[in-house]
Amino acid sequence: FVNASSKAPTKKIPETLFGIFFEEINHAGAGGLWAELVSNRGFEAGGPNTPSNIDPWSIIGDESSIIVSTDRSSCFHQNKIALQMKVFCDICPAGGVGIYNPGFWGMNIEEGKTYKLVLYVRSLGPINVSVSLTGSKQTLATADLVAEHVWKWTKMEVILKANGTDANSRLQLTTTKKGVIWFDQVSLMPTDTFKGHGFRNDLFEMLKDLRPGFIRFPGGCFVEGEWLRNAFRWKETIRPWEQRPGHFGDVWHYWTDDGLGHFEFFQLAEDLGAVPVWVFNNGISHTDQVDTSVILPFVQEIMDGIEFARGDPHSKWGSIRAAMGHPEPFDLRYVAVGNEDCGKKNYLGNYLKFHSAIKQAYPDIKIISNCDGSSRPLDHPADLYDYHIYSSANNVFSSAGKFDRASRNGPKAFVSEYAVTGKDAGTGSLLAALAEAGFCIGLEKNCDAVEMASYAPLFVNVNDRMWNPDAIVFDSSKLYGTPSYWMQHFFRESNGATLLASSIQPNPSNSLIASAIIWKTTENDKMYLRIKVVNFGSSSVDIQISIAGIDSNLLKSIGSTKTELTSSNLMDENSFQVPNKVVPVKSVLANVGEDMNITVSPHSFTLLDLLVNSN
Ligand code: AHR
Repeated sequence: FVNASSKAPTKKIPETLFGIFFEEINHAGAGGLWAELVSNRGFEAGGPNTPSNIDPWSIIGDESSIIVSTDRSSCFHQNKIALQMKVFCDICPAGGVGIYNPGFWGMNIEEGKTYKLVLYVRSLGPINVSVSLTGSKQTLATADLVAEHVWKWTKMEVILKANGTDANSRLQLTTTKKGVIWFDQVSLMPTDTFKGHGFRNDLFEMLKDLRPGFIRFPGGCFVEGEWLRNAFRWKETIRPWEQRPGHFGDVWHYWTDDGLGHFEFFQLAEDLGAVPVWVFNNGISHTDQVDTSVILPFVQEIMDGIEFARGDPHSKWGSIRAAMGHPEPFDLRYVAVGNEDCGKKNYLGNYLKFHSAIKQAYPDIKIISNCDGSSRPLDHPADLYDYHIYSSANNVFSSAGKFDRASRNGPKAFVSEYAVTGKDAGTGSLLAALAEAGFCIGLEKNCDAVEMASYAPLFVNVNDRMWNPDAIVFDSSKLYGTPSYWMQHFFRESNGATLLASSIQPNPSNSLIASAIIWKTTENDKMYLRIKVVNFGSSSVDIQISIAGIDSNLLKSIGSTKTELTSSNLMDENSFQVPNKVVPVKSVLANVGEDMNITVSPHSFTLLDLLVNSN
């Protein structure tokens, strides 16, 4: 028996309640959402000393015809490494000798699509370089870069149109001419990224479909670094891409060229219609810490980062944003001081310095503390407190009431990372999604204590699964959502909706949880009563729904629907082979009224959208 009532007190759900958390983990950005196809495009990944490892670049030809090395002759001062290619052959092989880049476990080159190659080149003599996109069976696109005089570094660009498809292609730069050529900053981008902003379309659409109220970025542990010297430093990720040094993310163990940088994260938020939540490094990594007595330069760094996002286009840092194509300020309203650093020696001291500087300059910015304020008041000022939960399915499901007794007066909760992990999760199981759905219903019911929540992690490139499970699984050409991704669709309309009072009686084994909201579609202004029910138990349950406070004549069967997320086996997962095994299934809902009966399947998440004719 679910009782949903608009007579009892209602709650306005924050516009930001359900959002997403993007971390550069599992190649979520580099080799993922950021559509750059070349990996290690500036040859910097091997470090600043020479000779250096040029991985994943490789050589075409043998030692009798070509030697490839690195030196520090680049024209870009922040990233000095360039690649030098010495070609010896008097008569080179017909296909030429040179170098190739396989991208991130293969480049996805698609027939009819165009790709923009940009590179920097230098040589003492004329050059004749053949550029090609090569699949395992055939060459898919080719062009020649010919120049007489490139003694100085010269930027060259070419658009390549593919005449075939291969998800495991590579970029080749070859020549049949003897001589020495230097290359640097070699980039290959599909021309059809979202709005030309550099985001891989299919992955971007998966995010857009979630209609996130906010996006937290860029980490996670990625923000902290194993060591501070490898932490994300926003100033190194702005300005034209060629000038960015890139960095080695030592927590998740890979190099990023930082094409997806501070500017692009804000652009991503804007493109998604989501409020940006910037998590910044507070002078603390997993291993080392900056003492509070010397934290002020770090505070200034963050003040500059806020000015970059919000400042006047004529301000020092706002002008750089404007030069990058965005004169209007970004809508930065939330910042988080570090990630999972509460309790570390310098956290509180550093936090207070950041807090006071930010509040003085930007009193409207909401500041998120890493310390959990759910069970006792914080000992420092904050607008929100961060809360993370990774646990078994039972624990996550039964944490639905975690915020029932949290303070309604002090800082609000930001559940910025939640997920079922361990054996219950498989690599993204129905069981995990159901537990998380129950937990999210609990958050929704406590929306006067919880302001934001996001699942973690968001993405995994299957070739580098550093963390399991994840919401969206992909490789160079394919993708699918795990049941946890689809579970989040059931909350898409919650942001800004009205929560109604609801209860379930009886609920002997506590295996049911439900909520009710009223929401309006943005497209056609139709009003719906949405009831969500998770059945975490293994038996089907007949439920009598009783709705109070809404005139039954207003409830319409035509236009009302039921959507269900379930499967025959609790541990069922989606996969590249069967991407839609566990996805929401929608059907019409008959016999809608103020008293109605439905049966919810064992192990299921059910959503009822009842059309309320408000005219
Ligand atoms: O989401 C994966 C990691 O889990 C995050 O980087 C970190 O904040 C948490 O420990």
